[in-house]
Amino acid sequence: MNDLYIIGNWKLYLGAAESVRLAKRLAQTFRFWPMPHVHVAVCPSFPVLAKAYDVMIGSRLALGCQDVGLGHEGPMTGAVSAADLAEVGCAYAIVGHSERRAAGDDDEVVKQKFIAAHAAGLMPVLCVGERTSGKRAAAALRFIKKQLQAVLVGTRGKKVLVVYEPVWAISTFGKGKPCPPAYAAAIADGIRTILHGLRNDNDKHASLIYGGSVDKTNIRSYTDREHFHGALVGNASTKLDEYVTLVKHIST
Ligand code: PGA
Repeated sequence: MNDLYIIGNWKLYLGAAESVRLAKRLAQTFRFWPMPHVHVAVCPSFPVLAKAYDVMIGSRLALGCQDVGLGHEGPMTGAVSAADLAEVGCAYAIVGHSERRAAGDDDEVVKQKFIAAHAAGLMPVLCVGERTSGKRAAAALRFIKKQLQAVLVGTRGKKVLVVYEPVWAISTFGKGKPCPPAYAAAIADGIRTILHGLRNDNDKHASLIYGGSVDKTNIRSYTDREHFHGALVGNASTKLDEYVTLVKHIST
């Protein structure tokens, strides 16, 4: 059975106290989660991570961060190190999210973040995807190939979660337009071919998940035929019942 990954990206949707409360409720729900192949995580904002981890200890719910810094140690005022993120309990690190790319992270920065996350023992959750809708799959794949090449050349054997996240399908406060599953499936096939060419490791260490307006009603349209082995979930992961139901739907 393939491993499935459901990663909740809380962005800045929740305040600090609210985040810890939700992490605690989710941790209780997933405390004795009986499906070892289904990995569930949440990624709160930086200031919340340590406190969120405290309420998650002993649960199968895992912690992730939404970004990593490039610094290791030294005179870097305001920097956040991947090693510290691992030390406060993170297991996953989102890198290359389109909202970080829009804030200035180019492919080289994303690569350095990927390397930093890996070196710290975090599982990188690498986001790729075209920015505008209406593209033919072949054109979108040319763009995605460049993003993947920039980061993954020479990473054979390093575990990575690749997220196909068409930027145009990301919801903003829940108002997105989901990507048609057939189109996403065609892109998934293309990404697998690219990964095979780049890493030559038969996907053994690279899992492909989908992101962009995923909720409990549409999750299975992306995962049912095994095009994607999980999802990066934004808005829908910030609501207890919605996220729990979504995880249950993907697991059955
Ligand atoms: P969304 O966000 O599920 O709210 O579309 C996904 C993401 O941006 O990671």
